[in-house]
Amino acid sequence: MHVGLIMDGNGRWATRKGFDRIEGHKSGAKVVEEIIRSCSQAGVKTLTLYAFSTENWSRDKGEIKGLMDLFNYYISRHLTEMISNGIRIKFLGSKDGLQDKIVNLINNATEKSAYNDKFFLNIAINYGGRDEIVRAVRKIAKNVKNGLIDIDDIDEKTITSMLDTSSQKDPDLIIRTAGEQRLSNFLSWQSAYSEFYFSGLEWPEFNKTEFFKALESYKSRVRSFGAVAGE
Ligand code: IPE
Ligand code: IPE
Ligand code: MG
Repeated sequence: MHVGLIMDGNGRWATRKGFDRIEGHKSGAKVVEEIIRSCSQAGVKTLTLYAFSTENWSRDKGEIKGLMDLFNYYISRHLTEMISNGIRIKFLGSKDGLQDKIVNLINNATEKSAYNDKFFLNIAINYGGRDEIVRAVRKIAKNVKNGLIDIDDIDEKTITSMLDTSSQKDPDLIIRTAGEQRLSNFLSWQSAYSEFYFSGLEWPEFNKTEFFKALESYKSRVRSFGAVAGE
């Protein structure tokens, strides 16, 4: 099962408590650890975390720096442990505009975990569903120009294979916290048939119990993919 997480509400949580917004992101990072640890018990094989969107660059410079430092700290700190736990780490998003330090970390984590297959962790940084499609279209156009594919052979599989998630299965369930009910440019192509769970909890308050509640809700859904429901 593949679960996507739109971890929203860190800033509101911090402001509500009288803290700086970055404190909300720090508390949120601890919740990520708890959720990753509960995935094997929950039967979740792939987890996609929405960490930073292409639109998040419009935030205050200080907050962006704080977030980038946090990614750097957490990924470096947990890399060895994640690799020895059989986790394959993949990054979704564009590397353009990211600091060299983050790009090196991304390349290193991707390379070192490439042969793992116990659990798949996708981290979406500088990710936008529309940007991902634009990049895929460019790759396809290049292949057409170079005579590698014929225009008439372009189908859904071609596009899927050019996305950052390439061979991975689409998310079965997308959870968004903090009461907002929108995708905010998350997995636009891949979410065509995903189920949704909206939690009222802000991300720093999210926990294993709420995660399991979302999964329970998912289990009761009937997914018909356009066919007659229940058949
Ligand atoms: C989600 O929390 C984390 C990121 C977008 C990086 P927010 O920072 O969006 O928190 P709110 O929505 O302002 O409360
Ligand atoms: C979505 O949250 C992006 C991430 C969780 C990384 P935002 O807080 O950026 O989304 P909007 O602006 O409320 O739609
Ligand atoms: Mg938000």
